Amino acid sequence: MQSAEIRKRFLTFFEKRGHAVIPSASLVPENDPSVLFNTAGMQPLVPYLLGQEHPAGKRIVDVQKCVRTGDIDDVGDNRHLTFFEMMGNWSLGDYFKKEAISWSYEFLTSQDEGLGLDPSRLYVTVFDGDGNAPFDQESKDIWMFLGVPEHRIYALGANDNWWSPGDNGPCGPDTEMFYDMEGGLGDLSKDEFLKAVEDERAIEIWNDVFMEYEKKDGKVIGKLAKKNVDTGAGLERMTAVMQGKKTAYDTDVFAHIFSELRSQIDEPKEVSAEQRIKSERIVADHLRTATFMIADGILPSNTDRGYVLRRILRRAILNADKLGVLNQELGSICTQGIVNQYKEFYPELEKNRSLIHDVVFQEEAKFRKTLEKGLYILHRRLEAQVIKSGQPYTAHHVRLEHGPDNIQMWDFPPSEITGKWLFDFYQTFGFPMEMILDELKQNNKYYYFTQDYERLSKEFGLEMRRHQEISRAGAEQKFKGGLAGNSEVEVRYHTATHLLHQALRDVLGQEVQQKGSNITPERLRFDFAFSRKMTDEEILRPEVS
Ligand code: ALA
Repeated sequence: MQSAEIRKRFLTFFEKRGHAVIPSASLVPENDPSVLFNTAGMQPLVPYLLGQEHPAGKRIVDVQKCVRTGDIDDVGDNRHLTFFEMMGNWSLGDYFKKEAISWSYEFLTSQDEGLGLDPSRLYVTVFDGDGNAPFDQESKDIWMFLGVPEHRIYALGANDNWWSPGDNGPCGPDTEMFYDMEGGLGDLSKDEFLKAVEDERAIEIWNDVFMEYEKKDGKVIGKLAKKNVDTGAGLERMTAVMQGKKTAYDTDVFAHIFSELRSQIDEPKEVSAEQRIKSERIVADHLRTATFMIADGILPSNTDRGYVLRRILRRAILNADKLGVLNQELGSICTQGIVNQYKEFYPELEKNRSLIHDVVFQEEAKFRKTLEKGLYILHRRLEAQVIKSGQPYTAHHVRLEHGPDNIQMWDFPPSEITGKWLFDFYQTFGFPMEMILDELKQNNKYYYFTQDYERLSKEFGLEMRRHQEISRAGAEQKFKGGLAGNSEVEVRYHTATHLLHQALRDVLGQEVQQKGSNITPERLRFDFAFSRKMTDEEILRPEVS
């Protein structure tokens, strides 16, 4: 069964059971300015789960676009995707456990109206109970009534079977459905079941959350006015199950994108099969995410959503280069391979077809210039080191079409190249570590480069981790608490002015003088005095650090 058919069947099944079909909300959250993207189907519906009346009624069904970039470095394995579609049916103070569970079961197993999955390959989990809520006997009874054997219903704690979008908001116990991917797993003890899940032999395909509680600052504070149901089933994963594949990358979801991608390779680069698969998946995944982001009005920039978009496009470009994809063709892969595939269901893609192409095209051009500039500076830096060391010097020029006018800030030579220097360089020019090391190794003969690569790479890793810790601490501040109060936002901006001041001093020197700052809930302004205009590189450094 094709992914489009699964989507259609889901919507029709619930429409027939009194649900209003609503379109996906934008990837950009409207109701919560403190998160960058909708990461679950429930996010756009939070106000309604909290009690506000939804104009479409109490029973809703949708397929919501979601972006999760937390695990971006894992993209390329079997499971991780940065964009996915979440199918969900909703009861806003209407039906509860009995209907939700029965319909999930019926949709999964019915040949006519649903997916026709084999009931003997299903396992389910229910909430085991804790100080916040009791063991979910009711869900267990409903599953048994439907015919799921008792020994295939596992009770698990809050880590597994309590769902909430974060530290604040509606939440509750859930019951999850798992499917035996191979057939033949048979009856499993609880430990065997958990192991099968870990090994991806049984995978979670659907989650019914019974949202009748509310969290504040990480603590469950009591019950909501109404009992709601929030269900979520990832379309890509369901498609893999339906097509008997281990990964969504091997389903029709990605087939079209891969064939476009491959048609843009004239001379394939020589890479290992493993690297090829990984790079193809990264390019396909990232371009799909970028396409949907741009259609929702996100443009590449150095902050927030725009920065995420820029990062994924850059990773797509670097991986496309590993495969030998023709330069400046990623924009057309987006339109031919992605817009064409999704345009019926997501009309915003067709509407923004040329914007999507142009944004990706321009970002690719811009990044290529940046890379080239970085390459140039790296080589000048290496020459400087040779000259300083007194070794015989052979002039060596990298091919460069876009020579930078002002490279002074990168020209200062530390006594040797350090991991920290490389990390700063990577931060500014987006060169991944391995690319820098390759460049160093390849040009060894010109520069007599005797540095210990392993040590360099270790030092770089340390810098990277330090930086990630700092940004994670920042992100936790940002995401903590969901809808932050104005005063909280202002306190953060105030902290940001100190960071900005320090960053400017790091780049320009101690003479940078703060002249004032002005903070509103929407933005911060920082005024400072410095003797001359900043160069482009100098502006970029505090922005990216
Ligand atoms: N909100 C639930 C989830 O995302 C359904 O898994």
